[in-house]
Amino acid sequence: MDPIAKQLNSLIEKENPNILEMLSPTGKNLFFPKGILSQGAEAKEKAHNINATIGIATEKGETMFLPSIMDSITGITPRDSLSYAPSFGLPALRKAWQESMLEKNPSLAGKNISLPVVTCGITHALSIFADLWVDPGDVIILPDMIWGNYNLIFKVKYGARISQHALFSENQGFNLSAFEEKVRAEARKNAKITVLLNFPQNPSGYSVSREEGRKIAGILGDVARQGTHVVAVADDAYFGLFYEEETLKESIFALLCEQDPRLLAIKLDGATKESYVWGLRVGFITYGCKTEGDPTGVYQALEQKTAGKLK
Ligand SMILES: Cc1ncc(COP(=O)(O)O)c(C=O)c1O
Repeated sequence: MDPIAKQLNSLIEKENPNILEMLSPTGKNLFFPKGILSQGAEAKEKAHNINATIGIATEKGETMFLPSIMDSITGITPRDSLSYAPSFGLPALRKAWQESMLEKNPSLAGKNISLPVVTCGITHALSIFADLWVDPGDVIILPDMIWGNYNLIFKVKYGARISQHALFSENQGFNLSAFEEKVRAEARKNAKITVLLNFPQNPSGYSVSREEGRKIAGILGDVARQGTHVVAVADDAYFGLFYEEETLKESIFALLCEQDPRLLAIKLDGATKESYVWGLRVGFITYGCKTEGDPTGVYQALEQKTAGKLK
């Protein structure tokens, strides 16, 4: 194992060993190499004649561009629009998305979450999530109606076992008892369970009520407290499309954060549908967990592993 990966793992282990155990073998091996970024910073300081650290063309010290391209990009400099962005995403974008998340999810108040890591849309975020957290044979709990791509990603690509429960009860609300039964049955058989929550839901369009959201988070928190490792991942592709009075108007991620050290909450979201920019391909991965002390180190380690996979 690379010494940097070892260092990140011991940092995670010190604050919350459960999280280290939840990582897939790839996740454990991942790290963010010292490379172009640190070399680039060094070159800025010391390389006055030639800076050969990164493969972009420059002109008079600025990013070179074709006028025909820049003619259609207004208000964003060539440096910001054409140069390579860091593997983590542009720092200002990550900060802005985190701030908007805190604003839109009041239950995150006082809770500590990671900085979002930028992906190429949510489909990409799902694959990166699976790289870090899904082993072949792992169970992923989903309802009986799902976005078809979950099968392609989790079952076909990563060899996970999808275990499904009825989505609706007879009186049409979320089938809490089928969900709870499935979660508890899988928790009895497995040291780790992964639960994917997608509200508003594709294909039904259903979004849970405040009461249902609170109960879902309660069930997952309870299973974690009883000793199972729970990876609870929210696919918030349709965040904001909330129409009923009783609908939970924030992400279930906000209710899952800081529940128990054995429960890791992960939010996958993006500008795609939330900001009506389907072709921009901008998504995010954000972590929320409970640690012994300050979680900043754990978040930085998880962000580095995630960005390492994005390289
Ligand atoms: C539930 C769900 N998640 C994710 C996506 C994909 O999002 P993106 O276009 O950002 O990859 C979709 C798109 O249809 C979806 O329905």
